[in-house]
Amino acid sequence: MSFLRLGVNIDHVATIRNARGAAYPDPVRAAELALMAGADGITAHLREDRRHISDADIDALAVVLKRRGRPLNFEMAVTSEMEAIALRHLPHAACLVPERREEVTTEGGLDLIKGHNNVAPVVGRLAAAGIRVSCFIDADLDQVAAAKAMGAQVVELHTGAYCDAVRDGDPRAAEHLSRLAAAAAEAGRLGLEVHAGHGIDFETVKPIAAIPQVVELNIGHFLIGEAIFIGLPAAITQMRALMDQVRGEKAA
Ligand code: PXP
Repeated sequence: MSFLRLGVNIDHVATIRNARGAAYPDPVRAAELALMAGADGITAHLREDRRHISDADIDALAVVLKRRGRPLNFEMAVTSEMEAIALRHLPHAACLVPERREEVTTEGGLDLIKGHNNVAPVVGRLAAAGIRVSCFIDADLDQVAAAKAMGAQVVELHTGAYCDAVRDGDPRAAEHLSRLAAAAAEAGRLGLEVHAGHGIDFETVKPIAAIPQVVELNIGHFLIGEAIFIGLPAAITQMRALMDQVRGEKAA
């Protein structure tokens, strides 16, 4: 199986900073540490309400990642404001996500069937600017087909339902995993690149990494939480090792 990239989402370093209105901890410092510890790229979600990552964080991350030649995956709602910011920064990748202000986190994937007329033009404009466009969707074959039809290069499959089920001891976990595997297989068949993310921890990473079409995982909240106990580099090193146990290491 091919090498599996790890994108580390540093949003929740900013959540902790913002809880006190302080200047620390700095998500850019976390991004640099994450890269040193084995992250292949950095993911950040500039939410419309700016509850964690700020515009200044994105400016600083863009500079640091460009200097290091490492990819920024810019998670964004499908709005004209976020599109303008993406087109100004031209990140390596943009991941389009649904966003509701009242939600605690991104609770489900985009509905690309209902939202086609809203999302498709944004996918087209970002892709035309050279940004690799990903749509965050639930593990649903119709959503995969809709992503393909609107010209997305990548689908990121929402792994939250599977990860929650494992944590809750819910017997439907196996069903959620099969659905992820089927959606990944269909996306691969259609020529889409497949990513996965949301809620992944040390227990759930290996079954997800075992889905052969998945080439990138984006992981945040668990790693930042684990960093409180063992440090961010150690948390990332351990996650990377679990991924490598399933997929093998990158060729030197
Ligand atoms: N991928 C996407 C598209 C997301 O919205 C998120 C959450 O911001 C993640 C990955 C990371 O999820 P978690 O923080 O639960 O690891």
